Amino acid sequence: MASLLSIGVNLLTVLCCLACTTESLEFETAISDALKTECHADFYCRPECLDRPDGYYCECGPGFMWNSYTCVSLAVDSSMVFSNRANASYAVINNRTKILPKQYNFTIALFVKLFHLNETGTLFSLRKDSHGNYVRIWYSGSDRRFHIEAYSELQIGRTNEAPQFSFSFKIDNLRPREWYHLAWTNLMHPRNRSTDWKVYITPPQGGTLPPKIKRSVGGSNIAEGATLPNRTELYLGQNSPNASNHFDMRFAFLGEISHFNMWNETLTREDVAALATDDKHRFCGNQVEWSDLRYGTRG
Ligand SMILES: *[C@@H]1O[C@H](CO)[C@@H](O)[C@H](O)[C@H]1NC(C)=O
Ligand SMILES: *[C@@H]1O[C@H](CO)[C@@H](O)[C@H](O)[C@H]1NC(C)=O
Ligand SMILES: *[C@@H]1O[C@H](CO)[C@@H](O)[C@H](O)[C@H]1NC(C)=O
Ligand SMILES: *[C@@H]1O[C@H](CO)[C@@H](O)[C@H](O)[C@H]1NC(C)=O
Ligand SMILES: *[C@@H]1O[C@H](CO)[C@@H](O)[C@H](O)[C@H]1NC(C)=O
Ligand SMILES: *[C@@H]1O[C@H](CO)[C@@H](O)[C@H](O)[C@H]1NC(C)=O
Ligand SMILES: *[C@@H]1O[C@H](CO)[C@@H](O)[C@H](O)[C@H]1NC(C)=O
Ligand SMILES: *[C@@H]1O[C@H](CO)[C@@H](O)[C@H](O)[C@H]1NC(C)=O
Repeated sequence: MASLLSIGVNLLTVLCCLACTTESLEFETAISDALKTECHADFYCRPECLDRPDGYYCECGPGFMWNSYTCVSLAVDSSMVFSNRANASYAVINNRTKILPKQYNFTIALFVKLFHLNETGTLFSLRKDSHGNYVRIWYSGSDRRFHIEAYSELQIGRTNEAPQFSFSFKIDNLRPREWYHLAWTNLMHPRNRSTDWKVYITPPQGGTLPPKIKRSVGGSNIAEGATLPNRTELYLGQNSPNASNHFDMRFAFLGEISHFNMWNETLTREDVAALATDDKHRFCGNQVEWSDLRYGTRG
């Protein structure tokens, strides 16, 4: 009897784990290679299959949920709330957290919610060598447009100059206190070093809109301006601080940011649509993932 029971137990356990594996495999085959990144092991893990008197279960354990692919920490299901300017709130990735390499092709994606359409604030910025903003995405309350700006590496330390690259876009029928998904992709053609920048917008009701596109002509300076340099510090919710580490509160963000991820690849529109509809937190950037920022929250 005992041995029969134990065979039954093993069989059911195997079936249970197979079901988990089948779901995972279906997911694996449905997504593009670019999105198949291993997520942070502190926040993502495989379920444990348990034999219990009342049945046989695959469990993610307390604080974790099954996302039909893997177990994910409930801490990942979060946003950062920037609710006042008096206290400088921000999240940072610096050389103590992670060293970011130079990138030509890249994707930066995030969910954003504005509290007030008339208030200006920076969603994200990069700083190099303690100089101010090198790259930033900010929202301007005066023209109600989002702006992306990048300096060239030759300009680092000369940020009183006009950025090498700037690009602005408007979201039709933009509403406060609603989540929008934004993705910015860059593709550099190696032969002529010209770059294609695309911004994809997914409004709250879904449906990723055709990208807004800006092209730069070839030429090493301009091409450099459209890359991300190595060893940058990344700030969410503020302009990069100045050389004495002060933030400019006129650019403090008022709203919420969630699921900021960064890849060293140019994601496609289909990939971006998958990110924008991913309510199960299945995707992680291969350079920066949302859970990296959970370690670096300040304010
Ligand atoms: C700023 O933070 C301090 C300490 O956490 C708190 O006492 C103060 O009320 C905060 N200020 C505002 C305007 O929220
Ligand atoms: C890390 O960054 C700080 C501030 O920018 C800098 O002073 C320090 O030298 C850097 N350390 C390394 C190992 O790059
Ligand atoms: C960027 O991606 C394109 C398309 O995959 C590829 O042809 C190109 O070599 C990449 N550029 C760099 C600098 O890696
Ligand atoms: C934005 O509008 C609110 C009221 O709707 C007002 O209190 C606030 O001062 C405005 N901010 C700016 C920067 O104009
Ligand atoms: C650079 O090359 C790509 C294909 O390799 C082409 O699509 C693009 O138009 C070229 N850009 C310029 C500015 O010539
Ligand atoms: C990375 O940046 C540092 C300065 O911050 C520079 O000295 C180094 O040469 C760079 N490395 C690469 C591979 O670009
Ligand atoms: C940085 O900003 C603070 C506050 O605005 C200012 O007092 C300080 O002089 C600035 N430092 C530098 C090096 O620009
Ligand atoms: C992108 O990042 C991954 C992981 O850090 C690395 O293995 C890969 O070589 C990088 N690809 C490029 C084109 O830099």
